[in-house]
Amino acid sequence: MGSSAVSGLLVLLLVSVSYGLDNGLAGTPPMGWMAWERFRCNTDCIDDLQNCISEALFRDMADRLSEDGWRELGYEYLIIDDCWMLDQRDKEGRLQPDPSRFPGGIAKLARYVHDRGLKLGIYADMGSHTCMGFPGTPLHKIQIDAQTFASWGVDYLKFDGCYSNPVEQMLGYPMMSAALNDTGRPMVYSCSWPAYLGGLPPNVNYSLLGEICHLWRNYDDIEDSWDSVQDIIQWFSDNQDDLQPAAGPGRWNDPDMLIIGNFGLSVDQARSQMALWAVMASPLIMSNDLRNLDPNMRAILQNKVAISINQDPMGVQGRRLLQKKSGIDVYWRPLSNSCSALVFLSRRTDMPYLYHTYLSKLNYEAGSYQVYDVFSGSTRTGLNSTSKFSVSINPSGVVMWYVSPEEPSSQTRSDPAPHRELDSEFRLHKSSIGRLTVL
Ligand code: GLA
Repeated sequence: MGSSAVSGLLVLLLVSVSYGLDNGLAGTPPMGWMAWERFRCNTDCIDDLQNCISEALFRDMADRLSEDGWRELGYEYLIIDDCWMLDQRDKEGRLQPDPSRFPGGIAKLARYVHDRGLKLGIYADMGSHTCMGFPGTPLHKIQIDAQTFASWGVDYLKFDGCYSNPVEQMLGYPMMSAALNDTGRPMVYSCSWPAYLGGLPPNVNYSLLGEICHLWRNYDDIEDSWDSVQDIIQWFSDNQDDLQPAAGPGRWNDPDMLIIGNFGLSVDQARSQMALWAVMASPLIMSNDLRNLDPNMRAILQNKVAISINQDPMGVQGRRLLQKKSGIDVYWRPLSNSCSALVFLSRRTDMPYLYHTYLSKLNYEAGSYQVYDVFSGSTRTGLNSTSKFSVSINPSGVVMWYVSPEEPSSQTRSDPAPHRELDSEFRLHKSSIGRLTVL
């Protein structure tokens, strides 16, 4: 690229940044379903019709999201990942879906999805090719691709970064943000940019990302294994001082998809992923086969209190408070109305571990608290911050608590609505036997 082209782009970039993407979307972490981790780049619709990347697969998932209670819980974005395209642009230079697998086109699929009260996401790549080698979106195609997606009725763009260099990324990610804005169609913008720069400052400028993107991938792709989930949790926790302040309403770190319901996680490990994604204020984007889900896994993904913690309107990302030599890590997330979430995670591999502590040791103010155990459904009232208690945590499992102060706080409770759901859960479970032992 000549120097005049580069300076032209820089001018465009400055103009773009002044029109940042602030369209009011993603006030809480986006929720939905994405094809990649479970269905990858399976384009074999001859021998594997049920599982290939095709409009039929997305229609099936739209049906499941709308008929099996997911949409009402907030899982609203149905997101196409890589491998939807034909390997050539059309005569007008627009990306086009492979007609053998998407015979109705994306606009028709978007209508199908919208008719079911859902939203459609799509994938493109800031570079010469997508990660799987389909046509990319180099700088000079950004405008046309944004316009094409808007004209199809797309609601969400995952913008990957394979086959581009850091200079192109620095220009391209803000340019796409402005181009999406210019379409006039509100779209959620998910940027993979930081993942291509090592995920940390000084290479990554999280203030800029917060201005131009709603969410961003920071780290490696998730795989269907506990090792992968654990590695992601570890990286996000080790780097929380850089990552945690970057998050807030409209701007989220994305540790990648929920793999709950696939082949790699036990029930305990699935609870651990759900709990950690909830306290880390992570997007809850499942990648699994909603047509065929184990009931235990469905219950974890549909746990209303875990979802409500994730979707807390204050939007503060949680932090790892403690890492014990015993292999127990404690996470904490402040929530609206003086409530909070605690997660006790066991990295042990032997047996359930009885962990003893008290709330004042976990930075709680003096007072009395009510605790709701998110996965067992039990409630305990009258837990004093200085009373010793113990929790039994399974290997690679969690105990997750929703904690609320018992005395009404002096703070005015201006918006109790987000907790209505919780309140009814509490009532339901109030009579159940507590799992907590107060010593
Ligand atoms: C990258 C992304 C994945 C997925 C694939 C598709 O690896 O990080 O999430 O989109 O590309 O090729």
